[in-house]
Amino acid sequence: MDVSEKIIVLDYGGQYTHLIARRCRDLGVYAEILPQDTRLDDSVLAGVKGVILSGGPRTVTENDIEGVFSENLSTMRTQKIPVLGICFGHQLLAVAHGGELAPGGNPEYGSTKLRIVNRSSILKGLDPEQMVWMSHSDEVRSLPETMKVLALSKDDRIAAFESNDHLVFGVQFHPEVTHTPNGTSVLDAFLRDICKYEKQWSPEDRVNDIVNEIKSAVGDGLVLMGTSGGVDSTVAAFLIKQAIGDRLHCVFVDNGLLREGEREEVEAAFNEMGFKQFHVVDASDEFLDSLDGVADPEEKRKIIAETFIKVFERKARELESAFGHFEFLGQGTIYPDRVESAATGKATAVIKSHHNVRLPSWMKMKLVEPLRDLYKDEVRKVGLSIGVPEQMIKRQPFPGPSLAIRIGGPVTRAQLAILRHADRILQEELGRTPLYERVWQSFCVLLPVRSVGVMGDERTYEQACVIRIVESTDAMTASVSTPSWDVLLTAANRIANEVHGINRVVYDLTSKPPGTIEWY
Ligand code: XMP
Repeated sequence: MDVSEKIIVLDYGGQYTHLIARRCRDLGVYAEILPQDTRLDDSVLAGVKGVILSGGPRTVTENDIEGVFSENLSTMRTQKIPVLGICFGHQLLAVAHGGELAPGGNPEYGSTKLRIVNRSSILKGLDPEQMVWMSHSDEVRSLPETMKVLALSKDDRIAAFESNDHLVFGVQFHPEVTHTPNGTSVLDAFLRDICKYEKQWSPEDRVNDIVNEIKSAVGDGLVLMGTSGGVDSTVAAFLIKQAIGDRLHCVFVDNGLLREGEREEVEAAFNEMGFKQFHVVDASDEFLDSLDGVADPEEKRKIIAETFIKVFERKARELESAFGHFEFLGQGTIYPDRVESAATGKATAVIKSHHNVRLPSWMKMKLVEPLRDLYKDEVRKVGLSIGVPEQMIKRQPFPGPSLAIRIGGPVTRAQLAILRHADRILQEELGRTPLYERVWQSFCVLLPVRSVGVMGDERTYEQACVIRIVESTDAMTASVSTPSWDVLLTAANRIANEVHGINRVVYDLTSKPPGTIEWY
């Protein structure tokens, strides 16, 4: 992304790399993640005010400090670009400047007390004795004379340092995690006081540039885009429409597995948002026929993905013969979909396979991905700022395989009707509280497990329904939401009483990990 001031986060494969970039952006500083072996040449360094080296799972080796890294260090020094190493990055900087590492043997995990021994602007927001979050087993044993120890942890281990010329900084702890109280102050001090980052970046500021980028990439071409009604594809479609108007064609596939009223809701919203070329394909029969008798969850996912491609492909050909060649394919890919923080530390552009439809090879289309540099909450802010209706922005994520992965056993029209009814009741009850908007997802799952109940004077022998409500920031991990008993009991009573086919309701208390958010 072409911004006039930015921070680079070099990714060494740490689990918190995205969090570092997130925290910087929350502080109004545009941060971009790049692979660890990126050469920091003039084109990469345009506008760069500082560099952060992430954590990582490995031990620093000679290889790490030679080659590209050593060239990068001297470039940063010549250009007086400050660098902050976190955890692995802290160790890497110490070793690269002549410090010594004590590998393994003495791990520190979790909360540790940090004691500041030399004041420095980078630690100014921390208390003299401060709990911080550690996650390492190697440690920096000694520093060269050009560096000063700033803080120690248990057994006087070197937990923070600064170079005498105030350009190189290292912290062994993780300032980016919420478990380090005041941790953001360390990033803020680095970004504002040391790197002198002055602007107040906000995702909404990007809208004009994004629209112009789409205009120049697409020219007078046509864009085809699968839109699900989800936040990402809706905001992306809105931006593309702003850039090229009705040369954007959206395709909404009704797979017969959607929630109650979903197709109508999305269709009405796109109409209202002024999308002239919004094509709805009713492929319910095709999806349900191909799922007939299939109980295995992975098999369901595979069939749904393949059927989606078939349907999309057919529609694309039909539209091509009516409107001409579609040179571009629009996608709602967002930043975390694209940047993978893998254990190798290689931040290669990988799109999570279950989040995007793999396209048939004949579709040699160029991708238009207006949200490729933004995080989910930034997408929401952009959406609101360009007039995407609030009810679309607030929609919870909904999986591509839809209700099929919320039904245990084979998917039938009857099972879908039961689940839809239960889910509608849950959403109605949650919708009366602020909870619906606060949680990541709230939904029902239909279990093919029968139990005995009583209704009026009759014995019943029906299925069980699970209520699942989770909180999360990125779906990589999730915790169980703890709504009031009132809300849960009202929803559960209504489901058991009103939905034919369900006579028992349970609440899922499993976090992720070890569970996943969806059941199947
Ligand atoms: P899990 O179940 O893996 O879900 O914890 C994490 C998040 O991803 C959504 N999800 C999917 N989204 N296609 C999608 O587009 C899928 O196949 C799929 N499976 C899970 C899920 O709803 C949750 O938000």
